[in-house]
Amino acid sequence: MQEHIMVKDAKTGKEFEVPGDLLMPETLTIIDSRTCKEYSVPISHGTIKAMDLRQIKTGDDDFGLMTYDPAFMNTASCQSKITFIDGDKGILRYRGYPIEQLAEHCTYLEVAYLILYGELPTQKQLDEWVYHITHHTMVHENIKKFMDGFNYDAHPMGMFISTIAALSTFYPDSKNIHDETSRQLQIKRLISKVPTIAAFAYRHHLGLPYVYPDNDLSYTGNFLSMLFKMTEPKYKPNPVLERALDILFILHADHEQNCSTNVMRSIGSSQADPFVCTAGAAAALYGPLHGGANEQVLRMLREIGSKDKVPEFIKRVKSGEGGRLMGFGHRIYKNYDPRAKIIKKTAEQVFEVTGRNPLLDIAIELERIALEDDYFVKRKLYPNVDFYSGIIYEALGFPTEAFTVLFAIPRTSGWLAQWQEMLLDPEQKIARPRQVYLGYGKRDFVPIEKRG
Ligand code: ACO
Repeated sequence: MQEHIMVKDAKTGKEFEVPGDLLMPETLTIIDSRTCKEYSVPISHGTIKAMDLRQIKTGDDDFGLMTYDPAFMNTASCQSKITFIDGDKGILRYRGYPIEQLAEHCTYLEVAYLILYGELPTQKQLDEWVYHITHHTMVHENIKKFMDGFNYDAHPMGMFISTIAALSTFYPDSKNIHDETSRQLQIKRLISKVPTIAAFAYRHHLGLPYVYPDNDLSYTGNFLSMLFKMTEPKYKPNPVLERALDILFILHADHEQNCSTNVMRSIGSSQADPFVCTAGAAAALYGPLHGGANEQVLRMLREIGSKDKVPEFIKRVKSGEGGRLMGFGHRIYKNYDPRAKIIKKTAEQVFEVTGRNPLLDIAIELERIALEDDYFVKRKLYPNVDFYSGIIYEALGFPTEAFTVLFAIPRTSGWLAQWQEMLLDPEQKIARPRQVYLGYGKRDFVPIEKRG
């Protein structure tokens, strides 16, 4: 937040509140060694505007200076008021509220409302929100036919991404992205329907009949019902497992400008409808460097096999022979990922119901030894969100390939909040980076018989 300072008009004695940087503008002075010219560029919120560098030229035909930043390692692509992360201190907040407090006191739908609309809902607002989300969970019957077209062994994420994209054809009104009423309707439709599509993908994989939504159940209770209901007339979710899934959904709801969120904003900037934007974001999440690490953690724990093999495994990781310690380290967190702490606690509650997943003991031992080891301490490598989540998902009965879908369901609210913020931001335009062209200069066409 920009600091405001009170100033007094000497003549009238009136007081005014003025943004601090108007009084004492912070600037960056740049001397271009090519021309010996000096430039002063304003600094705001710890950033300079890349467009302010365009004035730095060697001559009239010079395009002007650009920044080069593959992978956006040091570039802010937007201003946002949704999620705050301090990676060095291990802090994550949605709209200012610490993730620990939200995970303890809220439901996922309450948090989704907060992320989307900026404030925690009143009871009336929450009741209306839950009502709407509950009453949009059905999908068109043709969606079932669409899903039937997939092979039985199709990857759940492939089915999920394609079906979300297909929803765009069922809701042509979703193209009215500048119409506030339409936008809110699509947001509700998407948050409501992602669990239904995810559950249908799971049932299709097993060759089981699809289960329709049950409006008497909570968001996660209904999801569990659509996944696991068999012949019983009414599915009763276990309250501990229902709450555990809700907490996991809260933890995964948003994480500022990560890879998939950047894709959501980027596709959205071309004014495509939110269904295809969400499908694109989910495709980015699918990649093993983003949403797929929890699957790798389970593979690693199974490969280690037992607690007593942990020291030997750590030794192999350190020597470079054993690959990386999956579920450890993070580009932003250089401290314990706050989500991992909450997940570890949740895992214990889940195992009281499901029985202890023996992989947990290996994970705890791995964490204990790694956190005492100089190699990991020096590099600030701590457990991340994926270290314990897969163990819970497995205990809840999910196949490993479905883990990324469990990430995509709650992240949908974060993607939509970021999409909405982008659409309402007057500074945003179609996302279109520059490039540094290093290819050939102009050359003349060569007929095929003269090539080679
Ligand atoms: N195990 C062993 N060593 C590691 C690990 C790890 N998990 N992570 C980083 N290192 C080491 C690197 O070898 C490097 O060592 P060096 O300085 O001697 O060369 C140093 O720590 C820095 O690593 P970088 O790869 O430069 O760190 P970066 O920030 O680019 O990578 C990443 C972050 C990709 C998450 C990395 O820590 C990693 O691969 N972790 C394992 C995979 C994982 O758990 N990913 C999930 C992230 S959470 C999420 O996306 C939802």
